[in-house]
Amino acid sequence: MYSTALAFCVLQFVFAATALPLKSLIKRDDFQGDATYYETGTGACGYTDNDSDPILAISHLVYGDGGRCNQWIQITNPANGKSQYGQIRDECEGCGQNDIDLSPSLFQSLGEDLSVGRFTVDWHYMGKDFSP
Ligand SMILES: *[C@@H]1O[C@H](CO)[C@@H](O)[C@H](O)[C@H]1NC(C)=O
Repeated sequence: MYSTALAFCVLQFVFAATALPLKSLIKRDDFQGDATYYETGTGACGYTDNDSDPILAISHLVYGDGGRCNQWIQITNPANGKSQYGQIRDECEGCGQNDIDLSPSLFQSLGEDLSVGRFTVDWHYMGKDFSP
């Protein structure tokens, strides 16, 4: 009887101890939003890029004064696990807060055809000094 109660208690403890780390595996600094693509050119950050560059625009709601310009983000397509880095070069007027607008090549490198137009992504900012 005693050992059963103890085992139950231990199990509860193990469950409680593992439940928290599992939750924190979903990174708190991750955003989830829609990815779309756009025709590149000279972006709000002031650089001229082309459709082959791994660049993107962040939402006008978070672009601010362009303090994130040139910072890299890591983007994951949860549908296939593909992950890529992209560099912030522009501001997206039509984007919701967590949406990102990608160069066509970056969009495709996440394993989606341009004809899809839009898909869900998880992403987070890399450190300001990071470059892939
Ligand atoms: C796109 O820009 C990159 C530099 O970022 C350059 O190496 C490449 O040749 C350019 N491609 C085209 C098609 O202009």
